[in-house]
Amino acid sequence: MLQFLMKGGKPLKGEVTIGGAKNAALGILAAAIMTDEPVVLENLPDVSDINVMLKAIQDIGALVDRLDRHTVRITAGTIQTQNVLFDYVRKIRASYYLIGALLGKYKVAEVALPGGCAIGARPIDQHLKGFHALGAKTRITDDGALHAEAQALTGRHIFMDVVSVGATINVMLASVLAEGRTVIESAAKEPHVVDVANLLNRMGARIKGAGTDVIRIHGVEKLHGTTYPIVPDQIEAGTFMMAAAATNGDVLIRNVIPKHLEVISAKLLEMGCTVQEYDDAVRVCGNPDKTYTNVKTSPYPGFPTDMQPQTAAVLALAKGTSMITESIFENRFAYVAELNRMGADITLCEKGDVATINGVSGFKGTDVTAPDLRAGAALVIAGLCAEGYTSVSDIKYVLRGYEDFDVKMRGLGAQMVTVSNEKEAEEFIRATAEPEEKQAAEFIRATAEPAEDQSAEEVYENFVN
Ligand code: UD1
Repeated sequence: MLQFLMKGGKPLKGEVTIGGAKNAALGILAAAIMTDEPVVLENLPDVSDINVMLKAIQDIGALVDRLDRHTVRITAGTIQTQNVLFDYVRKIRASYYLIGALLGKYKVAEVALPGGCAIGARPIDQHLKGFHALGAKTRITDDGALHAEAQALTGRHIFMDVVSVGATINVMLASVLAEGRTVIESAAKEPHVVDVANLLNRMGARIKGAGTDVIRIHGVEKLHGTTYPIVPDQIEAGTFMMAAAATNGDVLIRNVIPKHLEVISAKLLEMGCTVQEYDDAVRVCGNPDKTYTNVKTSPYPGFPTDMQPQTAAVLALAKGTSMITESIFENRFAYVAELNRMGADITLCEKGDVATINGVSGFKGTDVTAPDLRAGAALVIAGLCAEGYTSVSDIKYVLRGYEDFDVKMRGLGAQMVTVSNEKEAEEFIRATAEPEEKQAAEFIRATAEPAEDQSAEEVYENFVN
């Protein structure tokens, strides 16, 4: 039972350094197997999604050497199979990048698809459209894997019907070694699309226009090895910006590209917070009198859907009524019920894509559950603002995308730990309790043993009541 446990109420203060972008790194790891020569990747985040991808690459035969915690050398000349059928790859959606990479290099790939996603709410029809245009045939196998195969891949003009990060990167991967010229129209412009293209170009690919909505790729015969530092994580940076604002703190966020954060900064300014930009850092100062604003998610350079839950946690504490409209994914408001249990006043429209947030004066700590990665981050932000103790369970989701989240928060003065059992929870509560709570706790301890299955909240209640 890994949980984050925190005692809220302290403004975050100090400096935090942002790691490499998880979503860029997932595409980049797939790109790295497209040459037989060594590719050294620096600034790789140590998060579970990345480690799953590294394991998959290793399990099909590539050599993966960890040079240090954030640097790996991948040598893919030893790959023995194009079948990536391990059950664990279904845990990460981005395993579909292995289809583009293997198909591009070997003209055949079979990859286990994320459970239920392919034809469900997060379709991959645009990925398939791109592969088909390049000359590949695809089918879903009886075991739920996607098989893609081509005699040869030939460059084509491809119009994406939906702006998709995944499809743009996947088609780019499949086309860099194709014959002739590929043009991707309505391409996604996210920083991670640009980062994957930059790595591929360093490996000898000829890609132009990444970061605009038209990407042109001249196929080359082969790619070579290189060393490449992964771009800083826009979403990790944005999360700390929102945490600084929510706690009325003052935080310098280092190792960022301020340009990637402009829309997040703009929303914080609208709320009345202060944002200062430096060459590779931003400083965010919160404002106890934050005011409402409206947010609508859209593809880059619009407001990122991956920042929507964390922003809701801040707006829940802002004066007035804010509206958040989610226009990318249907299922992005799973955190609303949990935030409301902490005292937020958020209602969803019937269709489920617009949240109306009436600002409240504070949150109350309780036990909540992370429904997904970014929602989990939003609940941590709320917990850091809340009165009393909050435990966030199911943090496996949060660990997919945030490295040392609790360590970094503690570096900013937060009272937050990861606990794996009730004893550790009790220790944290004892260490952080106010003097009068400590006295109560001593009394309770002297007179009663807490039951084994008590929640953190119940343990706390026992201490203070
Ligand atoms: C990526 C990010 C994810 C982020 C999302 C949007 C990675 C590993 N994940 O996800 O964190 O939230 O971008 O910025 O980088 N769609 C289709 N058909 C397709 C593909 C997508 O209809 O073939 C739709 C999706 O359902 C969604 C929209 O397009 O409504 C955008 O999805 P997409 O950009 O593809 O997201 P991902 O690449 O899955």
